[in-house]
Amino acid sequence: MNVTVLGSGAWGTALALVLLENGNQVTLWSFFQEESDRLKELHENPMLKGVPLPEELNLTADISCAAQSDVVVLATPSFAVRSTAQKLAPLVKQGTILVSVGKGIEKDTSFRLSQVIADEVGDKCPIVVLCGPTHAEEVGRGIPSAIVAASENRMAAHVVQDLFMSPRLRVYASPDVVGVEIGAALKNVIAVCAGVIDGMGFGDNTRAMLMTRGLTEIARLGMALGGKQSTFAGLAGVGDLIVTCTSMNSRNHRAGILMGQGKTIQQAMEEMGGAVVEGYYAAASARALAHKVGVEMPITEAAYRVMYEGQDINEAFQGLMTRGKKDEIEDTWL
Ligand SMILES: NC(=O)c1ccc[n+]([C@@H]2O[C@H](COP(=O)([O-])OP(=O)(O)OC[C@H]3O[C@@H](n4cnc5c(N)ncnc54)[C@H](O)[C@@H]3O)[C@@H](O)[C@H]2O)c1
Repeated sequence: MNVTVLGSGAWGTALALVLLENGNQVTLWSFFQEESDRLKELHENPMLKGVPLPEELNLTADISCAAQSDVVVLATPSFAVRSTAQKLAPLVKQGTILVSVGKGIEKDTSFRLSQVIADEVGDKCPIVVLCGPTHAEEVGRGIPSAIVAASENRMAAHVVQDLFMSPRLRVYASPDVVGVEIGAALKNVIAVCAGVIDGMGFGDNTRAMLMTRGLTEIARLGMALGGKQSTFAGLAGVGDLIVTCTSMNSRNHRAGILMGQGKTIQQAMEEMGGAVVEGYYAAASARALAHKVGVEMPITEAAYRVMYEGQDINEAFQGLMTRGKKDEIEDTWL
């Protein structure tokens, strides 16, 4: 198949390599001309050190390449999905499958990324969401991993499953777009908090508490929006949460550690060379979405207060520990 990957960051590059290895004709598009030139010159992406880019990978900064594609993968950071989809809309032919691999929720609209793409492109192209516990650094090096391809269009989900499936990347299909996207976007907030806990010097128990209760509130919001409970026990739910809360490959986790050591989120992002920390943006969008549908998300709320309102981290943490008593599972006694 002819595939264009839009966004030559770590994830776009890793996925382009999977697609190339699977025998597809692949073009990797960079937003910046200099970025594309640099990839050509280095034969490597500095975001994915030690992984050579083969000659057969087409590199360009001209988005018109998407017009000839059977499949277009949108792999930009979440803040750039709308502007990228806007450029893509007049080019892309009817029936081209669009694959959304970013993790986030749009700030102003609270849209999931597939909703942002549909808003710009309309219904002429089926959309598939591809998310899971997959660090670019590991997928790029062929480390065994698994991911979920979710779509309301069953045929498109299965095309994408076949396209990415390899002996080193298992792809599961799912109809639960809402569950997969909410799980993928919101775990970044919990990952920042897991980093904070590590940075503050707390223990394994604290991290386990945070991850478990974090998943509970992600699932609560996801189900209120129409996601299925079982999705949150799957790869895009607990799977992604495990990988992102426990690995130093996660920027969200690393940013949280710096915050736990006393830095603000802005200082943490600067220290990390201006890398995108999706959890920062997701905290505001998730909170807005939770307020809109009337769902309680205490950890996300605390993360928001620390990152956006400057609340002291110790105070926020104590606030969570001293909340009123709860049943572990809601409605257990009914
Ligand atoms: N890195 C991972 O391991 C990983 C894994 C799964 C999903 N994701 C998701 O994929 C998305 C991309 O992540 P990444 O790690 O590749 O990001 P990255 O920080 O490595 O790359 C950022 C890229 O965005 C491009 N960019 C910057 N401004 C742009 C704009 N206005 N329009 C279009 N492109 C622009 C830059 O050229 C750069 O190539 C994120 O939503 C992330 O959550 C990342």
